[in-house]
Amino acid sequence: MAIAVYPGSFDPATFGHLDVIKRASLVFDQVIVGVLYNSSKSPLFSVEERVNILEKATGDIPNVVIKKFEGLSVTFARESKAQVIVRGLRAVTDFEYELQMAQTNRVLAPDIDTFFVTTSLEYAYLSSTIMKEVAQYGGDLSRFAPPAITEQLMKRLRERNMLRTCPK
Ligand code: PNS
Repeated sequence: MAIAVYPGSFDPATFGHLDVIKRASLVFDQVIVGVLYNSSKSPLFSVEERVNILEKATGDIPNVVIKKFEGLSVTFARESKAQVIVRGLRAVTDFEYELQMAQTNRVLAPDIDTFFVTTSLEYAYLSSTIMKEVAQYGGDLSRFAPPAITEQLMKRLRERNMLRTCPK
């Protein structure tokens, strides 16, 4: 059985992430999405919330499982019995970091390969960070993530008093 893990922060997931998950699910028997605890970053959503968001957004894909993980992606891959780590590549700006990660992971675990999915063109600009920035200024989020996610994002920003207004 070909198993792939797709590790990331997913704070929160965007259409870009969902596109990578969907396409990976067509190639691998099982795709295990790994949501990182992010001890060094301070995420807007807890790891449980991020898992929950992804579970709801991918509920219609039977061979996708969402899990949280801590530590190295290769350890998570090994524990998941995966042979492959999947990552999305949006633009050339992603390349250096992704290549460095893939090579490091290959040194750490030569038996695990990284497969890159080139992000669909309509999501090439998109990231969770960009989505959060637009959300803070009240911009239209409908092309960034499904309503269930954008509503939760706006709610969280309101709760944290993080909504900003542009001076006129
Ligand atoms: O969604 P992100 O933040 O781009 O995902 C980055 C992630 C989680 C894939 C990366 O930070 C990671 O693999 N972290 C776990 C620690 C690890 O394995 N580091 C070694 C690879 S350089």
